[in-house]
Formats: sequence, structure tokens, C-alpha cells
Amino acid sequence: MCDLTRASTGSATIESSVVTEQGRSTAVEQYKTLSFAFQTNNIIFACMKKVVVVGSGYLANIVADAAIRGLLPEFEFVGVYSQSVPSSERLADRFRKAGNACNAYPSLDAMLALKPDFLIEMASPSGMQEVAIPTLKNGTSIVCISVGAFADQDFMTEVKRVGNESGTRVYIASGATGGFDVLRTAALMGNATANFFNEKGHDRLRNSSVYDPIIETKKHIVFSGNANEAIRTFPTGLNVAVAASIASVGTDNMQVTMQSTPNFVGDTQRVEIKNDEVHAVVDVYSATPAIAAWSIVATLQNIVSPIVF
Ligand SMILES: NC(=O)c1ccc[n+]([C@@H]2O[C@H](COP(=O)([O-])OP(=O)(O)OC[C@H]3O[C@@H](n4cnc5c(N)ncnc54)[C@H](O)[C@@H]3O)[C@@H](O)[C@H]2O)c1
Repeated sequence: MCDLTRASTGSATIESSVVTEQGRSTAVEQYKTLSFAFQTNNIIFACMKKVVVVGSGYLANIVADAAIRGLLPEFEFVGVYSQSVPSSERLADRFRKAGNACNAYPSLDAMLALKPDFLIEMASPSGMQEVAIPTLKNGTSIVCISVGAFADQDFMTEVKRVGNESGTRVYIASGATGGFDVLRTAALMGNATANFFNEKGHDRLRNSSVYDPIIETKKHIVFSGNANEAIRTFPTGLNVAVAASIASVGTDNMQVTMQSTPNFVGDTQRVEIKNDEVHAVVDVYSATPAIAAWSIVATLQNIVSPIVF
């Protein structure tokens, strides 16, 4: 028993005349257990980031798939909040099956009481506007996909102010486009102009304000204007144009064109930036919006990675 004491504590001085042999061995076992638990907890608490999710639809379920596949081991998904209670309960259940202690919450406030490190917004631009400020004030950073929210300059200013005050950040996932690094860099060089082109199938524009019967049979430019006007016309459909704008020339200066093409499946998003020395084109075709969910997974991996892209 004494050897065990020495081996486990690295010291023989633990022996004491007021402690019986039986009591000492119990104390040593307790010490070992506590020490192990402490060290284990240290490892766990140093690495694990507590995450909550707003929105439990298409994208959120793809992020859950990534967690289930073990691609986000540094993150513990502890809460889901969404307008749809049944779907948020189903999503929380999926996270639980992936080994997370996750619950659905009836309100944002109830979920923020968990003091998460990150909130992943996968709801809507108006949802992002509702949750952002209370979340940042809570000390929780945000990974955001409904970037259209930032077309509102007042909102953007307030997010920056509260983020600075609370030491939190908003990470904008690249969504259905990308290349924000080259867009930012080219814009910083000065004298940059930029434009954004989106092509989608005519069937997705049938119920929109820009519908024209001509789109049933012909390619047609259904919208042309700056990114502010674009997001007003398509409140949930042009997050990417706003994201590319705020990464580069701003929403007032980004020229946006949307083309309807009969029977086109998916989206083409093409961002082009030019300055006196650089001409860059980021051209992304996606058959489905799944790329946006995967860009959230990539953002989360970047947050904890020693190598950041
Ligand atoms: N940046 C990009 O490239 C990109 C690409 C695709 C989708 N998006 C955006 O991602 C978001 C989610 O897309 P999705 O396909 O998963 O949508 P979805 O409709 O499948 O799911 C949205 C979920 O959010 C919930 N929700 C909506 N508004 C809410 C609010 N105010 N508060 C709480 N919950 C709310 C809904 O109940 C639903 O569970 C949308 O805003 C969409 O425009 C961005």
C-alpha cells in the first residue's frame, strides 16, 4: 500500500502518524481519483467549446450530420432554439445521439443561460437581427450564415460596438460563395470595383416580386441594382451578395445582377473584383445550398485550428 502511495504521489512524506493505514490508503485512492478527474477535466475544459444553435432546418441538420460524423470533436452542442419546436426537439435529439448533452429550448434567453462560447445562427436574416445583440452581450460569439442581416448599417454598427465591448466576435461563414480573403485583399489595395452575378432556375422566381412570364421560356435578367436593393427585393435569397459586399466594396457599391434561366438547377454565384493591378473572379456553382452548411463546419474547424485558412 505504501509503495502505491509513493508511486502515485511521488512522495513518501504523505505518511502521517494520525492517519491509519486503512484511512491513508483510502485518502490516496481519493487523491488519485480527484487528481485524475482534475487532469481529465482540465483537458476537457481547455479544449471543448460549448455551442448552441438557432434554427433547426435544412442547414442545421447538415451541421448535425457533420457532428455525428465526428468532424467537430472540439465542440459540445448543448442547445437548440428555433421557431419550430418539433424540429428543434428532433435536432436536439440528433445531437444527443452524437454524444452531446443537448436540449431544445423554448426561448433564446433560456438557452443563453447555458453561457455558451458560440451560437450558430442558421435561421433567417431577421432571426439574426433578433438574436445577435443579446447573444454578444451574453459573452457568446456568433457564427452567422444569414448575412443579409448586415445590409442594415445600423445593425452592423451596433454589432461592432457590442462585440468590442463584450470581447466577442461574429464569424461570417462563406456560405454559397467564398474567396472573402482575396476580395478583402483586393479592396484594401484601393480603387476597387466589384460586381455580383447570381443565376437560378425560373421556377424559384415564380412567386417573387420580379416574376415576368418571359422567364418561363427565356433567360432573363430579373434584377439589377446594388446589394442593398438586392437584399430588400430578396430578403432571404441573396445573403451571399451582402457577404461579398461587406468583405470588399460595401453594399452601396456592389453591383448585383440576377439572371433567371429556364430549368436551371441550383445556383451560380460569381463575384468579380478589379483594381488597378488585380482582377479576381470567384465563381461557385452549387446544386443545393448544402455548401452553406459545410462552410459553417469549416468556420468552426478554423476557430479551433492552429492553422487557419
Ligand atoms: N450565406 C449563404 O450562402 C446561405 C446559403 C443558404 C442559406 N442561407 C441562409 O441560412 C438560413 C437557414 O437556411 P435553411 O435552408 O436551413 O432554412 P430552413 O427554412 O430550412 O430553416 C430555418 C430554421 O430557422 C428557424 N427560424 C427562422 N426564423 C427564426 C427566428 N427568427 N428565430 C428562431 N428560429 C427561426 C425555422 O424555424 C427553421 O427551423 C436562411 O436565412 C438562409 O437564407 C445562407
